[in-house]
Amino acid sequence: MNPEPLLDALLAELLEEARRTAQNAYAPYSHFRVGAALRLTSGETVTGTNVENVSYGLTICAERSALVRAVSLYGPGIRVAAVAVANLNDASSPPCGACRQVLAEFIDPAAPVVFPSSDGPRTMPFSALFPAAFDMKLK
Ligand code: THU
Repeated sequence: MNPEPLLDALLAELLEEARRTAQNAYAPYSHFRVGAALRLTSGETVTGTNVENVSYGLTICAERSALVRAVSLYGPGIRVAAVAVANLNDASSPPCGACRQVLAEFIDPAAPVVFPSSDGPRTMPFSALFPAAFDMKLK
């Protein structure tokens, strides 16, 4: 766990929000119900859940759904300070690769990401979770 009690409290609260949000998942195909909660540097919390589609590839994950909500609500200048992911299936679920790449656009590299692992909630800095993000630097 984290050495900073304030951060621990924040992540526990975020995790609870993510869990609550997972109740709203639309997952009739996988039955995997995921919730995500983002804490923005402005202090706002924005949640999202996975929304599946009969055309499976059109499914959006909880993390991306929270992120698009955050931008829609607060604009393109948002920065993500912490992320929590939860599922109602008692399964390990770190953010998928697509979600990591999308989060990379708006997240501080040091931001903690807490997600369900086989040993319970696990926290990692985003930069450790996604060390080589694609970043377009034109010459
Ligand atoms: N899912 C998420 O919501 N987040 C992830 O990071 C991984 C997968 C969802 C997508 C799909 O609705 C279900 O979990 C099974 O893949």
